[in-house]
Amino acid sequence: MQYLLMHKDIPVMEIEIDEATYGISRIGEIYQFAHIPLGVLTYQKKVDRAVLNHWWMGRSIPLSRSGLREALEVMDIPMPQKLIEKCLALSLSDQYWICPAGKDMKWSEVNFFQNEFSEDVGNILFGMKPNSKRLDLMSPDNTSDGYLKKKWKIIDGKRYLMKGGNGQVQQEPFNEVFATEFMKQMGEIQFVSYGLWWEQDMPYSICEDFIDENTELISAADMMKIQKRPNHVSEYHHFLHCCDILGIPNASDSIHKMLTLDFLIANDDRHFHNFGAVRNAETLEWIGIAPIFDCGNAMWHNQPTSRIETKCVNTPSRTFKKTHEEQIKLVPSFQWLNQACLEQAVDICREVYSKNPFMDAHRLDTLCVAMDTRTQFLKDILQEQVYKNDIGEITIN
Ligand SMILES: Nc1ncnc2c1ncn2[C@@H]1O[C@H](COP(=O)(O)OP(=O)(O)O)[C@@H](O)[C@H]1O
Ligand SMILES: [Mg+2]
Repeated sequence: MQYLLMHKDIPVMEIEIDEATYGISRIGEIYQFAHIPLGVLTYQKKVDRAVLNHWWMGRSIPLSRSGLREALEVMDIPMPQKLIEKCLALSLSDQYWICPAGKDMKWSEVNFFQNEFSEDVGNILFGMKPNSKRLDLMSPDNTSDGYLKKKWKIIDGKRYLMKGGNGQVQQEPFNEVFATEFMKQMGEIQFVSYGLWWEQDMPYSICEDFIDENTELISAADMMKIQKRPNHVSEYHHFLHCCDILGIPNASDSIHKMLTLDFLIANDDRHFHNFGAVRNAETLEWIGIAPIFDCGNAMWHNQPTSRIETKCVNTPSRTFKKTHEEQIKLVPSFQWLNQACLEQAVDICREVYSKNPFMDAHRLDTLCVAMDTRTQFLKDILQEQVYKNDIGEITIN
């Protein structure tokens, strides 16, 4: 089937979607090079169909999504890629969509920021039985990323993302809330605020959409594709270099704040799709690094209590270094940090996790010990910086 790939009301290019595989089988005329999704243009400034398909398939619910197989069975849909077409590829995180060729559709009539959407797909992903046989598949849940069970919800006219937890302890929603409560104390730091939400006695995290009808989130993974990374350049330097080329304001400060938080909460999943930058979708002007979101995979969420690292050594990281103890050395200065937050960390930890009925007292105590060690580790670094500064060994920039 023939479509126009659109960016709000800007036609970007003609594409054909194969009815059997749901992939992009042909690229037609290109109308707006500047609006081609970031990361899809090759270094030779050409659109490669394989790269475009990678981006397209990346819009669908990942196969690793908890509960996806059962949901596809209920909907009688062979693969999640088919769902992208069912919602015109619209999302609540960016402004790309597809308009069937020859149809005169306006973005304002279809987008999910200004129009209501069905919760059928979200509810089925949450394991609920559909009320009727006629499902409405027009939903931003068809294009949501990530492994955890999740759905978009409209509450009082605002769009919220609701995410579940995993395993026996269901720790992830509480991790989001802990990160939120902690970041409130950290100083000047941009973050998405998560609250707790209970449904059928199960905990969920809930946060407001930080994208609106004018903006969009671009992942760090896509940002890093604008240039080839030379072998001798680290991913850290490459990312900051790409931010420079794109002209993203205050990128390194924002990233250093994120790395500091991730160190403290032992985030083991800050991969290049879990942070990025926000731009205006029409003018393409960059607003800044996206507020910190997705802090659920932290605090040894998927580890038994005996494996919680209370000594602060070799804590795994997925961003720029293999361990947090190495990665925190990339942060050149903590002058922005409200140091009092380090004194409050254990109390916040105890307060948030004691609300989790699935967490036993031993695990709660162990997390508090781990938090105490990590804040002490950071205090030691701060002390060292002050000392080196005093004797003029380093200048903090
Ligand atoms: N508050 C939000 N507003 C807009 N987009 C969001 C928001 N939270 C998450 N997203 C988008 O949804 C994706 C999946 O959400 P995420 O929190 O990363 O889920 P998971 O924990 O399953 O990885 C993110 O990668 C991002 O693109
Ligand atoms: Mg994620």
